[in-house]
Formats: sequence, structure tokens, C-alpha cells
Amino acid sequence: MQRISDDIVHIGINDREIDLFEGMYDVPNGVAYNSYIIFDDKIAVLDTVDKHFCAPWLNEVETELGSREPDYLVVSHMEPDHSANIVAFADRYKSAKIVGNAKTFAMMNAFFGRDFSERRIVVADGDTLELGKHSLKFVFAPMVHWPEVMVAYEPNEKILFSADAFGKFGALDSGEPWDDEARRYYIGIVGKYGVQVQALLKKLGGIDVAKICPLHGPVLDSNLGHYIGLYDKWSKYEPEFDGIMIAYTSVYGNTAKAVGELERELKNRGVENVETFDLARRDLADCIAKAFAYPKLVLATTTYNNEYFPAMRAFVDGIVERNYQNRFVGLIENGSWAPVAAKCMRARLETCKNVTFADTVVTVRSALNDDSRAALSKLADELTE
Ligand code: FEO
Repeated sequence: MQRISDDIVHIGINDREIDLFEGMYDVPNGVAYNSYIIFDDKIAVLDTVDKHFCAPWLNEVETELGSREPDYLVVSHMEPDHSANIVAFADRYKSAKIVGNAKTFAMMNAFFGRDFSERRIVVADGDTLELGKHSLKFVFAPMVHWPEVMVAYEPNEKILFSADAFGKFGALDSGEPWDDEARRYYIGIVGKYGVQVQALLKKLGGIDVAKICPLHGPVLDSNLGHYIGLYDKWSKYEPEFDGIMIAYTSVYGNTAKAVGELERELKNRGVENVETFDLARRDLADCIAKAFAYPKLVLATTTYNNEYFPAMRAFVDGIVERNYQNRFVGLIENGSWAPVAAKCMRARLETCKNVTFADTVVTVRSALNDDSRAALSKLADELTE
């Protein structure tokens, strides 16, 4: 248990056993599922946790409640990492009402075959649940990260219960810095939905927030401008850093040599921040998230099956489907007999909004030569113009 204030506690779980979050994101430092209890005239429990932790979570609820019975279970979100134990809770606390919106209960029925019609409270956007001196004002946040998501603002303590927003990967005791794992989490799960995140930020714009209590990661209680500023930037698809990202794959090292040559050319032109990713060896979700952090991106890869290399395809698909936009892209291809990688990558990226391309396309025919070195130099010029 972590005390958030005199009347509010955190009763979440640190999951150190998980290998892949949502079945795809590597989480070497685990993940936290946060649940909260507000004690007042009425007692509200906010969200449950992943199904693997039903017993310890219910034990913690029981420990915190003592002899009192909860009045409400507030369901912000039906993704199973938070909703899996709704039925267990409802069966344990039979007088508690289940609070959600119309979409929440439709999903509940789909997941559990139960929608608690006899003891549910269906809220609308902007509705308030009174608890005593505390209350929860619900603000719908569709697609941040599922369509039924609603966040809740508690005005007495100025706390925003933000659902998945402002979360991060990593158990609470991981001790890692927030930005990198929050970016990887954000771009991974809601990167596509920048418009909807902007809509939520605008709805919350006039609200005085002292603490943010998300469903994953630490409670944020200071320097909130930093976190909100990053969410604003990410959801507007604005770059976070200066500099250039190079993402590459290399089969026998010749494309890697071209990348090394470009790095030198860029450093010689005074670019201080060049971050290079070998896509076959780096975490894909991190590579994708970083692409959104830089204003310029260079892709270097091999022609493969008359397309381009699989790890690069996964990367390009990953950024395109997350609405990659407003960026400048340079292309380097390698092909020993029929190079088409640059043409294919460009065709995929041309589906993005406001992505512009360097005029110079570097074609390496097997290994670097004078022509491809000269093209790399021209590409470096364009990237630093
Ligand atoms: Fe953490 Fe969308 O669930």
C-alpha cells in the first residue's frame, strides 16, 4: 500500500513475472497495475488489476477496508490488465455498485457474460459521483486507450485518476527514469491516437491538477508540467529532441558501413545528436518510439525478396500505423543486383501526412564506392541544411 493522502491509498501490484505486456512489449523491469481506494462517507475502489494477481489484490483491498464495505467499484477501462477481477470483486462485495459508462457495461457483458444491471451506475461524460467531501467527475477519453475509457477528477485533492494516460512500463520499484519508458508505452499503445489525446488534454485544460494517478507507473505529484508537456508534444507529433535518428539493418556489414560513413559526415557538419539503431538487435517498440522523438530519420536497409529487409518492414509499418507525420526522411538502400528498398520504403511512408524526403537517395551496390560515398555526403548536406 502507498498512501496518496489521508483518505486515498494506492493498492496496486508490481508485476515482475510478466515477459510481454499486451503480448508484444518487452518489459524487462515488469509493469505496475495501479488500483486506488478513496475513503469518505462512501468508499470507492478504482479499477482492479491483472488476473494473475486477483488474490493479493483482493487481500489488499480487504486489509485496507477492515470492517467497512466498499460502496463503489469505478471501472475506468475494460482492458483486462485492469478489469480482470471485476467479477471476483463484485462477488466478494455484493452491496458495492459498479460504476462505468454505457460502453463499459457492453464490454463487461462481452468479457464476463454479466453486466451487473441490478447494481450498476451508468455515468455520462461530465457526471459526478459524490463520495462525501470527495467526488469524482468523469471525463470521457475515447481511444486513450480504448473507446470506453474515462478518467476521473477529484476536486477536493485536485487528483486526476488518468486511466492509462501518463502511465509507463516498469514496476514501481524499478527506479528507472520516467521519460523513456513512458514514451515507449505511450507511442506503443496510443501513438496512433494523437487527436484523441489532444482532445483529452483540451478537456482537462482548465482543471487544477496537483497529482496524477495513472493505471501504470508512479503517481506523479511534482513537476507535472514536464509530463503534461511531453504528452502534448507526443500527441501533436512534434519532435522531442534535436538531432537525427538513423535506423538500419545490415546483412553482411556493408549497409552498416554506409551508416557509419553518414554518421561521420553528420558529425563533421556539427550535428551533435545522432542516434543509431540496428533494428535487428534493438527493441522494436523503443526504435518506433524514438522515431517520434526526432525531427529527422534516415532509413538504411537491404533489398530483400524484391522488397526490403523484414526488421525494417516491421519498423516502418510500426511508425506508419502510429500516424508518423511531420518529419524529414533520408533513404539509403543496398542491393547487389536489383535494389528496390528505397522505392518501397518511400511508397510506404508516402501514405503518411507531411513526410518529406531528401532528394538524394543513396544506393549502395554491394559495398561502398566513390559514387555511394559522394551520395552519402550529399545526403548529409540535405539533412543539415
Ligand atoms: Fe493498461 Fe489499456 O490498459
